[in-house]
Amino acid sequence: MEEQKAIYGIIGNPLKHSLSPILHNAAFKALAVPAEYRLFPLEEGQLESFFQELRNTDSSIFGLNVTVPYKETVIPYLDSLNPLAQQVGAVNTIVISEKRKLTGYNTDAPGFMAHLIELNFSVEGKNIAILGAGGSARAILSTLCIIPDRPRSIRIYNRTTARVNELIEDLKKRFDLDIVEAVISVDDLNLRECDLLINTTSVGMKRDDPCLVDEDLLHPGMLVYDLIYRPKETALLKLAKHAGALTANGLGMLFYQGVLSLEHWADTRIDDNVKIAMRQALERAAHYE
Ligand code: ATR
Repeated sequence: MEEQKAIYGIIGNPLKHSLSPILHNAAFKALAVPAEYRLFPLEEGQLESFFQELRNTDSSIFGLNVTVPYKETVIPYLDSLNPLAQQVGAVNTIVISEKRKLTGYNTDAPGFMAHLIELNFSVEGKNIAILGAGGSARAILSTLCIIPDRPRSIRIYNRTTARVNELIEDLKKRFDLDIVEAVISVDDLNLRECDLLINTTSVGMKRDDPCLVDEDLLHPGMLVYDLIYRPKETALLKLAKHAGALTANGLGMLFYQGVLSLEHWADTRIDDNVKIAMRQALERAAHYE
C-alpha cells in the first residue's frame, strides 16, 4: 500500500509566482520523505472553512506558510503563537500537530537576520533606513528592535504616512521603539549617514519602476538590501552598486525563512546538504543560474 503523503503548502492571494513549492519540494526530495508542498490560493471568505477543515483528524495537511494578505488575518484561527510571532504580530508559518492544534510562528524576521549574518553585516550601533510599511517592514522593524545588539537608529518612510504611523502605534504596544522614527520624506531618511537601507516596498518589481531614492545619497560602506528578488537587480540595487555600496536582494531572506519554517514543521535542524539542495533549486527557479 502506498504511504499517505504529508501535505504542506502556502495560503495567500495571489500565489501564482510563489517560489515556496520549489524550495520545499526540493527539501522533501533531498530528505526522501513522502511529502508534497502545494499552493492554496484563498479568497478572504474561504479562510473560515479552510481552517475548519484543517482541524479534521483525517486532514493530511501538517504545515503551512502564510503570505500576503493573510499574515495578520490568520491569527484568530490559531490555538497559540510562539513568543516571536506574538511580538511581531504576524504569522508566516503554521505548525499543525497530530492532535490538530495550530501554532503560529514568524520566520520572516529571523530569516532576514540570518541573511545579514551570511552577508557578514552586523546591525549593532548602525543607522538604518527602511522604505515601506507593509507586512515585510513589520517583520524587519520588529526584529531590529527586539534583538539584543540593537542598531543606533531606524528611520522609516512610507508613501502613505498614516500606514507607517499605524504600524508604529501597534508595535509600540509590543516592545520598545525608542530607536525608531517615522519620517515624512525620503530626504529625511538621512541616507548620507545610513549604514543599511532596506527596501520593503514593491517598487522595483516591474522592469521600468523607478528608484525611490536619489542615487547621489548612496555611498560606499553602506549595504543596500532590496527584498525584491525578481528582477535579480532592481533599479535601486543597480544604482547602489554603481555608487560603490554593497548590495543584496531578498532571495537569501526567502531561503532562510523557508529553512526555518521547515525546521518548525520537522521539529529538528535541517542538514546542510538539504539546505544546499533548497538554495540551488531556488536560484535555478529565479533564473540566477
Ligand atoms: P509586503 O507584505 O510585501 O510588505 P504590502 O503589505 O502590500 O506588502 O506593502 C507594500 C509596500 O509597498 C507598502 O509600504 C506600500 O506603500 P503604501 O502603504 O503607501 O501603499 C509600498 N508601495 C507600493 N507601491 C508603491 C509606490 N508606487 N510608491 C511607494 N511605495 C509603494
